[in-house]
Amino acid sequence: MSLFLRAALVVLCCMFVLIPSFTTAATDQGLHARCESHSFKNGKTFSSCTDLPVLDSFLHFSYALETGALEVVYRHANLESSSWIAWAINPTKTGMLGAQAIVAYRNSTSGVMRAYTSSINSYAPRLQESPLSIRVTQVSAEYIDREMTIFANLLLYPNTTVVNHLWQDGPLKEGDTLGMHSMSGDHLKSITSLDLLSGQVTSTKSVDGNMLLVKQIHGVVNALSWGILMAGT
Ligand SMILES: *[C@@H]1O[C@H](CO)[C@@H](O)[C@H](O)[C@H]1NC(C)=O
Ligand SMILES: *[C@@H]1O[C@H](CO)[C@@H](O)[C@H](O)[C@H]1NC(C)=O
Repeated sequence: MSLFLRAALVVLCCMFVLIPSFTTAATDQGLHARCESHSFKNGKTFSSCTDLPVLDSFLHFSYALETGALEVVYRHANLESSSWIAWAINPTKTGMLGAQAIVAYRNSTSGVMRAYTSSINSYAPRLQESPLSIRVTQVSAEYIDREMTIFANLLLYPNTTVVNHLWQDGPLKEGDTLGMHSMSGDHLKSITSLDLLSGQVTSTKSVDGNMLLVKQIHGVVNALSWGILMAGT
């Protein structure tokens, strides 16, 4: 039985995009993952890393199954400084509701990175700061050599082995507001399930002929969207 995945994208008060897609399970963990050659400048090492399938992104993490403690780094390479990034997991569900996000961007005035948490409770998230449903500590971010990185320590439920995670980037608008990310290609594919034990990601692939529904309610303002994953069997 093939996995049925539905990825959808919702835009703040403006647009609604639904992309139902069938998926074929495919692992993207090559024998020589690019992330393995990365060294963190503070000498930190992680037990697992994975090259994410799209958006020049990498995930490094160390995970303690019995406690659920997840030390994680999300890196996005080749990014303008006037960008925001976000990485989220849904620790309990396959859908978007309940996803726990960490957002980061560089303050255009001070040059200081801001990193904060945002719990996704609607299908039109604005990624404003809010507490997460899981414990998170040590949230920070940096931007070096066109690479934006989020660091965080999460506390998942003990014995969690697989989580859905999503990642995204978009432009920073005037006043450092988060602008809507691209609605095409890789930006709609930045969702996978992540096996915390093996480090493998299972990517989703759209089948030709997918319906793309765009419902525009208002004009496009400073819109922000986030991918949705709904999976069933
Ligand atoms: C950016 O930094 C400036 C100067 O520190 C501060 O006044 C401003 O509020 C910051 N902007 C955001 C969006 O955090
Ligand atoms: C996690 O799994 C271990 C081994 O199966 C079990 O002993 C332990 O009680 C589990 N912990 C929780 C919180 O379910």
